[in-house]
Amino acid sequence: MCGIVGFIEKEKKDINAQDVLINCLKKLEYRGYDSAGIAVVDCENKERKLEIRKAKGRLSNLEELIKTSPVEGTTGIGHTRWATHGEPSDINSHPHTDVSGYIAVVHNGIIENHNKLRKWLEEHGVVFKSETDTECIAHLIDFHYNGDLVTAVSEVMKRLEGSYALAVVCQQEPDLIVVAKKDCPLVIGLGEGFNLIASDVTPILEYSREVQYLDDNQVAKVTATDVTIFNKDGVIVEVPVSHVDWDMQSAQKNGYEHFMLKEICEQPFVLDQTYKARVYAGKIDLQEINSIVEKATHVVIVGCGTAYHAAFVAKYSIEHFARIPVDIDVASEFRYRDPIINENDLCIVISQSGETADTLQAMRILKQKGAKVIAITNVVGSTVAREADFVMYTQAGPEIAVASTKAFTTQLMCVYLLTCALTKDLEVREKLMSELEEMGAKAQLVVDRQAEIQKFASRQFNKTKVFYFGRLSDYAISLESALKLKEISYTHSEAFAAGELKHGPIALIDDKTLVVATCCQPFLYDKMDSNIKEVKARGAKTLAITFEGNHAFDDVSDEVFLIPKTDPYIAPILSVIVTQLYAYYCSVNRGNDPDHPRNLAKSVTVE
Ligand code: G6P
Repeated sequence: MCGIVGFIEKEKKDINAQDVLINCLKKLEYRGYDSAGIAVVDCENKERKLEIRKAKGRLSNLEELIKTSPVEGTTGIGHTRWATHGEPSDINSHPHTDVSGYIAVVHNGIIENHNKLRKWLEEHGVVFKSETDTECIAHLIDFHYNGDLVTAVSEVMKRLEGSYALAVVCQQEPDLIVVAKKDCPLVIGLGEGFNLIASDVTPILEYSREVQYLDDNQVAKVTATDVTIFNKDGVIVEVPVSHVDWDMQSAQKNGYEHFMLKEICEQPFVLDQTYKARVYAGKIDLQEINSIVEKATHVVIVGCGTAYHAAFVAKYSIEHFARIPVDIDVASEFRYRDPIINENDLCIVISQSGETADTLQAMRILKQKGAKVIAITNVVGSTVAREADFVMYTQAGPEIAVASTKAFTTQLMCVYLLTCALTKDLEVREKLMSELEEMGAKAQLVVDRQAEIQKFASRQFNKTKVFYFGRLSDYAISLESALKLKEISYTHSEAFAAGELKHGPIALIDDKTLVVATCCQPFLYDKMDSNIKEVKARGAKTLAITFEGNHAFDDVSDEVFLIPKTDPYIAPILSVIVTQLYAYYCSVNRGNDPDHPRNLAKSVTVE
């Protein structure tokens, strides 16, 4: 939620601050697109005033604005907003300034005590321009400013409650950017003669691969040539430099119309990569977690949104293959319900970004309760990755589209690999592993048939209600399918356990309904057959997703999509590709932008 960037160079050379900031903001637009803005100062011309440009709506509006009204300088910060306090508007857009307009701030996070701070500032004569919590920070910095921006920001941090990643520039000290963080991510990219800051590494990669991750309560003074990081007591701390080797190509569209379609099509490759990262010569390599895996008698998994659905699928597979009970929860519930955690519990958090506020807090609770936590995440160096005891990385590469696709299926690959590690019956384990090894190739067979799904979507995209149902892991994947469709096509879609249909949902079925029945549990085909007939009898159109070679639904369902045969418990990796594609094409047919769905942000760093 909200992305921040910053850039500083010694002297204006080939690259200018304004263009770098815009370029970096493009990579962070997935974090919010209610407005965008930049603030620039100039260390070569200290007389030059701090300049701000900001515009409501997509980043392209800001780009238009600076075409007619460019800003010049060496030092700048930028922001892309997902509105929390105050409606999306020019005035509520970041950067925010103090009364004099000398200090500019961009902020990701929420200042929880902003009402109290606002009142205090107003009592001290400050007149606010915006409704945002962030504006308090700019005024407070001004209040504490005595010629040293680092000290002023450090003082202000003591007064802030809530979460923040901040970047601040100041007209009096145009040769530095000050950044600070608590509970929101912040990365510093190290260049030659320039440095950058950003909410995640993707904008930095084009300019540098050497990064430093700021920790909570740290503040950093970033000049064009140096980075000095201080802890909350003002003591300089050494923060290691990490090298990021993510492939830049994966952050480009490469000829695809949208990132989402590209990311769906990348799944065969990244599934393979995720498998190969953990399996050598037919043996699973999870050595670092062997000790907890071996004694696990109970598994607890938490996540949010799509990551929670990966946990849902995991529950079925771990209980079925490894015969270990699994509890799953959405992180926002888990963290408040005083969960019972025992010594031998295997605790897993799943998060694509590794920055979701609720997931992070859930992980901290697990750790406070003495659990060792395994994180399944996509982002190297993310907060979840750094705080977990063990990390299984999904090898999805940067996922740019807001709706998660390849990160989800690689999360599934990770939970299936964990399932293998937990499965004591070697024969069962080996069979499962050989199925997983083929998953990339089988996913390719589904992706290759995207034209069929596109055609189906072009006929059905106007349905006002779409219900997904299935049994066991087909039910789990129905939840993800329904989420995908509502996220990007804004169609009312829900998922049900097929057996629950008669307990209420069937009342909603009429001739404006499409029902997608995932039917990949052979011993339950008869039950699904009856369920499909029940909804058809009430006017619904139906699509059945089932295995190749199964003709049981040919005469029952209006349409049937066949996926390659595999174990029913891992079929979700394949069946979800069908529903991802369906959601994508519905979104396009409805004239939406699937990469930037309304009201959503990819990384939810506020609670
Ligand atoms: C947001 C995104 C979802 C994502 C969820 C959890 O809601 O829009 O796509 O599944 O956050 O994100 P995480 O990064 O923790 O997996």
